[in-house]
Amino acid sequence: MNPVRTVGARLSLALLGVVALVLGLVYVIVVPSLKNRLVDARLNDLAHARNALVAEYELQPNDPDFFSNAAASTNARVVLLTVVSQSPTLVTPTQWSLPGRSAKAYTDDPVASLSARTSQLERGTVSRNDGEFAEVAIPLPRRSEVLLLAAPLHDALADVSAVQRRMLLAGGLAFVVALLVGYGAARLFARRIRRLERAADRIAGGRFDQQIADRSADELGELARAFDRMRTRLAGLDHARREFVANASHELRTPLFSLGGFLELLEDEDLDEPTRREFLDTMAEQVRRLTKLADDLLDLSKLDAGRLHVETQPVELESLAASAVDEFAGVARALDHPLEYASNGSVVSRGDPQRVFQIVRILLENALVHTPPGTPVEVSVRGTDMFAEITVRDGGPGVGAEDRSALFERFYRGESTKASGSGLGLAIAKELAELMGGRIELDSQPGRTTFALVLPAGQQAREAEPEPEPVVV
Ligand SMILES: Nc1ncnc2c1ncn2[C@@H]1O[C@H](COP(=O)(O)OP(=O)(O)OP(=O)(O)O)[C@@H](O)[C@H]1O
Ligand SMILES: [Mg+2]
Repeated sequence: MNPVRTVGARLSLALLGVVALVLGLVYVIVVPSLKNRLVDARLNDLAHARNALVAEYELQPNDPDFFSNAAASTNARVVLLTVVSQSPTLVTPTQWSLPGRSAKAYTDDPVASLSARTSQLERGTVSRNDGEFAEVAIPLPRRSEVLLLAAPLHDALADVSAVQRRMLLAGGLAFVVALLVGYGAARLFARRIRRLERAADRIAGGRFDQQIADRSADELGELARAFDRMRTRLAGLDHARREFVANASHELRTPLFSLGGFLELLEDEDLDEPTRREFLDTMAEQVRRLTKLADDLLDLSKLDAGRLHVETQPVELESLAASAVDEFAGVARALDHPLEYASNGSVVSRGDPQRVFQIVRILLENALVHTPPGTPVEVSVRGTDMFAEITVRDGGPGVGAEDRSALFERFYRGESTKASGSGLGLAIAKELAELMGGRIELDSQPGRTTFALVLPAGQQAREAEPEPEPVVV
């Protein structure tokens, strides 16, 4: 990847940009205003001395010490300029505070000339060979003179350049620190992001074994934890899928293998008719088992894909239970089970009639198949304001405590009943019940096992409740 395009490089560049912008702004705003303030302060000092100086000068215009005293008190050069012409205004120095040095430099001083022209106190800065000066010119119109106070600014300007230098130094340091911190932090982030990227690639490649660990509490830590939750979930789904495929193919192979065997046996021309009949019956049973398995697998795949659509409508449980009992009457008789339907009146639930019937079939078949011959089986319905249930009860040995938790898992068959079904019935029943907003409840003890399909009550069940008596006052 282009190094400038990495998140790290972009983050450090952004940080550097922000630091440079802040420093530039501070520099542009602070330095000139600092200089202006210092110059203004100096000019104000000079202007404040105006009245005292003018009064003193007017009092003793010829005092030889006036200029040196004034220079000492104002800490500035004090120059007296005479107005030699008004248009254009020309001034020339006559006396000043530093005898021995050239006063010529003050001839036609711009601040003094302005003051002579306006007859007002004027102020400004002037650059000369020996530096920059803050100047205040005080007009003395009666004498056609201007008193000029010129304070050197080199101290103030030295302070400003010291501040300027320090700011540049601090700016440079901040720049380097920002560069290092930005680059370091960005590298750290980039490394964590790359770790997540590698983890995502691993997951995409079907390897779910390695945990994604990032203990930090920030957003990347959150993302890593979400990734890990996804990894665990996908690992579970992948495991379930593999197990499902293995179990399903095993379940399919057994009857197919048996069918193949019988076909070979049937090819024997010496086979007597009763044996041939027996083989054909067994083969029909295996085909029935295969068809049921295929239907169950199809239902499960639809459930997994979320494609199994269930109706939500009132279901009359009483007639539904009666039909189921009728349907299984023959099987019950064949297996020597007394099968009964205990009517409790009309009960209506909400759900899909076909799927409710499918669940009752699964429960009834289990009660007949997984109990010893002769065990009585009873179907009943019951309803309240909130729920409606259909119950299949048998007097068999029941479900062992060790089986109970796994009973509703796919392909799980109880220890004692390994040979019979595929172990899909209860798993399908549970998922269908949940899809209709209900559940399957199990209550089992030796001699009395109850599987109940509990569904939300339908309208008629609520209407079946007695109406409250009207209160007559
Ligand atoms: N009424 C019951 N009495 C005792 N054990 C039961 C009863 N109903 C279910 N079981 C146990 O629960 C297991 C799971 O039942 P489930 O209906 O899921 O599968 P199955 O009946 O073995 O096979 P399938 O229903 O797919 O043909 C059974 O193998 C059996 O051991
Ligand atoms: Mg079953």
